[in-house]
Amino acid sequence: MAYYYSEPSRTFGEYLLVPGYSSAQCIPTEVSLRTPLVKYKKGQEECPFSLNIPMVSAIMQSVSGPELAVALAREGGVSFIYGSQSPEEEAAMIRKAKDYKRGFVISDSNLGPEATLADILALKKKTGHSTVAITEDGSAHGKLLGIVASRDYRLSRMSLDLKVTDFMTPLEKLITAPATTSLHDCNDIIWDNKINTLPLLDEEGKLQYIVFRKDYDSHKENVNELLDTHKSYVVGAGINTRDYEERVPKLIEAGADVLCIDSSEGFSEWQSRTIAWIREKYGDTVKVGAGNVVDRDGFNFLAEAGADFIKIGIGGGSICITRETKGIGRGQATAVKEVAAARDEYFKKTGVYIPICSDGGIVYDYHITLALAMGADFVMLGRYFARFDESPTNKLFINGNYVKEYWGEGSNRARNWQRYDLGGASRLNFEEGVDSYVPYAGPLAEGVQNTLYKVKSTMCNCGALSIPELQKKARLTVVSSTSIVEGGSHDVILKNSSKKFD
Ligand code: IMP
Repeated sequence: MAYYYSEPSRTFGEYLLVPGYSSAQCIPTEVSLRTPLVKYKKGQEECPFSLNIPMVSAIMQSVSGPELAVALAREGGVSFIYGSQSPEEEAAMIRKAKDYKRGFVISDSNLGPEATLADILALKKKTGHSTVAITEDGSAHGKLLGIVASRDYRLSRMSLDLKVTDFMTPLEKLITAPATTSLHDCNDIIWDNKINTLPLLDEEGKLQYIVFRKDYDSHKENVNELLDTHKSYVVGAGINTRDYEERVPKLIEAGADVLCIDSSEGFSEWQSRTIAWIREKYGDTVKVGAGNVVDRDGFNFLAEAGADFIKIGIGGGSICITRETKGIGRGQATAVKEVAAARDEYFKKTGVYIPICSDGGIVYDYHITLALAMGADFVMLGRYFARFDESPTNKLFINGNYVKEYWGEGSNRARNWQRYDLGGASRLNFEEGVDSYVPYAGPLAEGVQNTLYKVKSTMCNCGALSIPELQKKARLTVVSSTSIVEGGSHDVILKNSSKKFD
């Protein structure tokens, strides 16, 4: 006979935190959100790899590209670059994120010496940047010949056919510096010479980076930023259980700091085979998360298989229709609760603490606090990050509002069949995700800082200054449907009734 759970499958919207005693020390600026990313012997050693904020971005085409990876690492979290592209393309994205150094910009506006003023204008329209590097081969790292800035041309006086070599500031007149120059020294050169841009060249005169005067403020260190030992931003990568022998070495070589198996269902032999292969080839040096699971058995299976962290969630994602199409999944809150209990039991038994990640279904910022209170060490978000400037999708103006595109990995648009692979045909047989829009929400830094201020503030209401303390002290209550109505604004006529998700 089938097994029936006695508890219903609950989601975050059905819970509230009940405040606890807050001392005078309990203020948001005192809260630490540092949290472990990979397993370790808690109490005996430091976690070898922690996040400064409990947020990672979803392994999705419409979420995690190099630009978002840099923006999120700057705030203290990690992006997992999507794996539903060729291993070479994914490795190139990792490389792009790793090449990015604070203050050192890889020029994205480049032309060759044959280009004309018309080409400059077209490029400026495309990139929005007014500084164009003129290199021998027109690439970002070609031999530098000159720079064109807005002050180099007068549209009313010059023909659009004019060659860039006739009006650019040529190399001989430019102030440049070697690529090894420190950011501090670059800024001094910029100030001493009253220039706006400083190209950095290698020994062969090839352009490596440009340092801009206007970026000076953002050069200042962000206390939370997550850097590797070479001062590059930390970046993760998604892998699948099919082509890992080819993909993983390319990602590691490109500099990926952590991997995660991206699958709609992690309680499977395919995941243990993938982890076993990684352990055999790299030992413990390559960190790999696995998932997704929604119960104790799934957690224990992946823990035994050697996963460095374990992801929870089936069917709760905003773009997900798995529960509707397949009738499988579990309410996210119930899943997190049970897996957290399994994780704690595993720790008691083995001394090894395996971080768990609640993936999908975060609608309001307070859902993050609930997930953490229920035992998650960090959360993975798709919809949330897709809304920001740095996500890789188009920003559109629709029905009077700015929106960004957001589509599921199981939609026809992404066709990520490896995520849903159960060893059958190499194709997506039916859709498990939708293609959609999400409200545009501006720059990531501002959005994340705002969200985390709320998280910290709620933690203070619970008397907690750290995530482990929140997990110990949190008191949660299930809410009735009428008390949910009471929780929103009610019985008033709203002046502005546009609904916001945050
Ligand atoms: P969100 O934060 O609620 O938008 O959920 C994002 C999560 O949904 C991802 O991290 C994946 O685990 C999951 N997901 C991504 N694409 C699909 C899909 O097409 N179908 C079902 N789940 C998906």
